[in-house]
Amino acid sequence: MNLRSIKEIKNIRGKRVLVRVDFNIPLEHGKLADDTRIKAAAPTIKWLVEKGAKVILMSHFGQPRKKGLRNKDKGLSMIVERLGKLLKRDVKLIEEWDFATIGKTVKKMKAGQVFMLPNLRLHPGEEKNNEAFAKELANLGQIYVNEAFSVCHREHASIVGVPKFLPRYAGVRLIEEVETLGRVLHEARLPLIVLIGGAKITDKIAMIKTMTDKASAILVGGALANHFFKAQGYQIGASVVDPKGVKIAKTLLKNKKIILPRDVVVGTKDGKVAKVAEVTNESKALCFKPYAILDIGPKTILRFSHFIKTAQTLVWNGPMGLYEVKRFSHGTVALGRLFAARSKGIAFGVAGGGETIDALKKTGMAQYVDFISTGGGAMLEYLGGEELPGIKELSY
Ligand code: ADP
Ligand code: 3PG
Ligand code: MG
Repeated sequence: MNLRSIKEIKNIRGKRVLVRVDFNIPLEHGKLADDTRIKAAAPTIKWLVEKGAKVILMSHFGQPRKKGLRNKDKGLSMIVERLGKLLKRDVKLIEEWDFATIGKTVKKMKAGQVFMLPNLRLHPGEEKNNEAFAKELANLGQIYVNEAFSVCHREHASIVGVPKFLPRYAGVRLIEEVETLGRVLHEARLPLIVLIGGAKITDKIAMIKTMTDKASAILVGGALANHFFKAQGYQIGASVVDPKGVKIAKTLLKNKKIILPRDVVVGTKDGKVAKVAEVTNESKALCFKPYAILDIGPKTILRFSHFIKTAQTLVWNGPMGLYEVKRFSHGTVALGRLFAARSKGIAFGVAGGGETIDALKKTGMAQYVDFISTGGGAMLEYLGGEELPGIKELSY
């Protein structure tokens, strides 16, 4: 794979450079939580600014279409403020998808200025990879840079459409991600233990399958585990569940490498109720509405710990529970700490994903992990040996 770094761009001064970043970062009580993804893209943005480029950033924030929110979102306005502080310069957010106005605005940009386009996912063309939309975006710039490793698994207009129309380059961090994860993919020492959880079910459950070849064991927690319970006929009350995920889980039940929770914490999302339920063959009732499975239980923490303690390579994506609520954070925090403790030394530890990074930072031990990838789904797909559409499009 041959990627061209931004450092190879000639005559940058005065050029309009479209930079795809991923500033899709978690919120906590309506405020930005972890800002790793902003910091990860900052060196590329800084470098372009210092060389006198006119930097036009583009990012998505959340999944507004799926969630039915169509209005302007607050997310990116908070982000440009945070980025501005980091870069020590004003970053202007353009708020509406009106290409005539955006076109005029960017033509007036001065060297070293940084603008940000509206949330890409507020435009219907982004997720459909609409060619006309990609062309309109491309028309705004003269050079395309991808500094969004964590979205490279999506065939979206800003990832695979725009680079078809412009000279394309890879951001500094994207190259680091590809190189480091590439080493894990090709040179991982065994046992390779994968810890996987979270809530993006259809993506991740498929990745469990791809990872089973390489991994020695896959420890499944978070909302992802619900699908295996449901597939085994357990009652799971108001737990997060996606019927497509249950179908896939059914096909994976016999796989001995997949290690499921032995007990879970069930309760209400407000944290007022939280109690342990054992996963046994005797009773198929884990919980009933309004209760939901919201964390892994203590026996599961112990069981998963045994596996983590044997690892030479560790990969983690996805919280073990609703870690944002203290009573359901114990599984994630306990395993996150053990994961970090085993890393940088005996095992090579890689963790990634928007909420996973946030959770890892909250353990206070993130500095002990060898590599923190910006990618969640993208990291897993890449480590599963798949070619990411965004990287493929960037290669020469
Ligand atoms: P990442 O961003 O690390 O890739 P995801 O986006 O897939 O991870 O999932 C993170 C979210 O999953 C968190 O907000 C967390 O609260 C949620 N989650 C994990 N387990 C559960 C569960 N059992 N029930 C509800 N939400 C859960
Ligand atoms: C992520 O948070 O993993 C990336 O920003 C991709 O987001 P998506 O899963 O909504 O495409
Ligand atoms: Mg996430």
